[in-house]
Amino acid sequence: MAMAVPMAITLLFAIVLAGGVVSSAEFSYIEYNTTQRIVPGKINVHLVPHSHDDVGWLKTVDQYYFGGNNTIRGACVQNVLDSVISALLEDKNRKFIYVEMAFFQRWWRQQSNAKKIKVKELVNSGQLEFINGGMCMHDEATPHYIDLIDQTTLGHKYIKDEFDQIPRVGWQIDPFGHSAVQAYLLGAELGFDSLFFARIDYQDRAKRLKEKTLEVVWQGSKSLGSSSQIFTGIFPRHYDPPDGFTFEINDVSPPIQDDVLLFDYNVQERVNDFVAAALAQIGYCSFYVPISIRATQI
Ligand SMILES: *[C@@H]1O[C@H](CO)[C@@H](O)[C@H](O)[C@H]1NC(C)=O
Ligand SMILES: *[C@@H]1O[C@H](CO)[C@@H](O)[C@H](O)[C@H]1NC(C)=O
Repeated sequence: MAMAVPMAITLLFAIVLAGGVVSSAEFSYIEYNTTQRIVPGKINVHLVPHSHDDVGWLKTVDQYYFGGNNTIRGACVQNVLDSVISALLEDKNRKFIYVEMAFFQRWWRQQSNAKKIKVKELVNSGQLEFINGGMCMHDEATPHYIDLIDQTTLGHKYIKDEFDQIPRVGWQIDPFGHSAVQAYLLGAELGFDSLFFARIDYQDRAKRLKEKTLEVVWQGSKSLGSSSQIFTGIFPRHYDPPDGFTFEINDVSPPIQDDVLLFDYNVQERVNDFVAAALAQIGYCSFYVPISIRATQI
């Protein structure tokens, strides 16, 4: 079974294509303007840095957290949280979505009060957002629905008690198949605005790509009618970033080399690749171009 690749990130900012390409006359430090904004008349691409940390898959949840037994799988969630939080603190334009409370709780327990205050500020400003918010991203096919409710309740109660926040987005990007209970009970009834997932039957995906029906309003219950409806977005491909834009350890995507004095300076080429990826994606989405960024696998 090809399951989740460990880490991921939540961030949401807009990049305007065909805007700020670096002037090759600049030989010094380049300050990029990463302020998010929507520019009318252009394709606005939303990069969504998100977590995707398996709460036990090839090794135990504690081994995933501490980076134990890395010969089985190189994965260390505490490093993900450490690096993401410091990156958020460095630049208020950065955002991140964190999903799995089983890991977040482990990390939180080990933070100083001073750090906790800073992280609460990140949560209150919206730079750090909890989505899905259960202890894990539960499977939808094999567990009893009581278990789905219990593990979601536990995570949401933790977020409410600690941060006074209520998650608004369902993020079921790795389960193999999706159930109506998720849509109506653990989606609409729970108060989520939306639900996103990646895995669907390949023929269904092909049809939806062709017909531009990857975004739907899913009515999860016939008897509950419109109160069980939830906006649902299906990723056009899997939850990976476009080809050539995976910057995990051991990945082979070309880095963006923006020092004009270097022989391998490649900004124009990489911008062109990104524009091509965005154009390919908008070809089968009806109104938004989300690009999932899974990062920081250590
Ligand atoms: C960055 O972009 C924002 C949004 O367009 C703009 O308001 C701001 O002035 C820009 N900052 C700089 C330093 O250019
Ligand atoms: C790590 O995994 C190996 C292989 O499965 C196992 O023999 C070993 O006991 C594990 N070590 C720890 C500390 O869990």
